[in-house]
Amino acid sequence: MVCLGNICRSPLAEGIMKSKISMMGLNWEVDSAGTSSWHEGELPDQRSIKIAKENGIDLTSQRSRKFDSSDFDHFDHILTMDTSNFQNIRSMAKLESHINKIDLIMNYAYPNENRVVPDPYYNNGFSEVFEMLDTCCNKFIELYSNH
Ligand code: 4NP
Repeated sequence: MVCLGNICRSPLAEGIMKSKISMMGLNWEVDSAGTSSWHEGELPDQRSIKIAKENGIDLTSQRSRKFDSSDFDHFDHILTMDTSNFQNIRSMAKLESHINKIDLIMNYAYPNENRVVPDPYYNNGFSEVFEMLDTCCNKFIELYSNH
């Protein structure tokens, strides 16, 4: 799960996905990162922590980190939140096999529409972002699990 700061959207996406796969008994590795290192080592934004907590999800063990090119090998899917994140990650990818792992997370809910998860940092749209990510995670699990 990749966004800009790795404190608002992608920590929520990580927490939501981990919560769902845990309930379903799926043994998937999920992590998140930012395209920037601006908040390296920091907790998720308090507003993300709050909306997650209201939905029974704890984000407080997460710390912000910057996306690393080794993530291309380590993970099967790299889900970006918006066009800017997508393009930044895309520009780091050298191999076709890595390029093929990158998608906008909203394409799982709305295939091929290239919708984005808006950055809530300045406008407080955290509950909308939570709902969007929840839907995307459900669709992703539907697609890749055998349940
Ligand atoms: P995120 O949100 O990319 O969803 O973590 C942001 C967090 C911090 C900043 C921008 C967006 N910032 O400008 O510091």
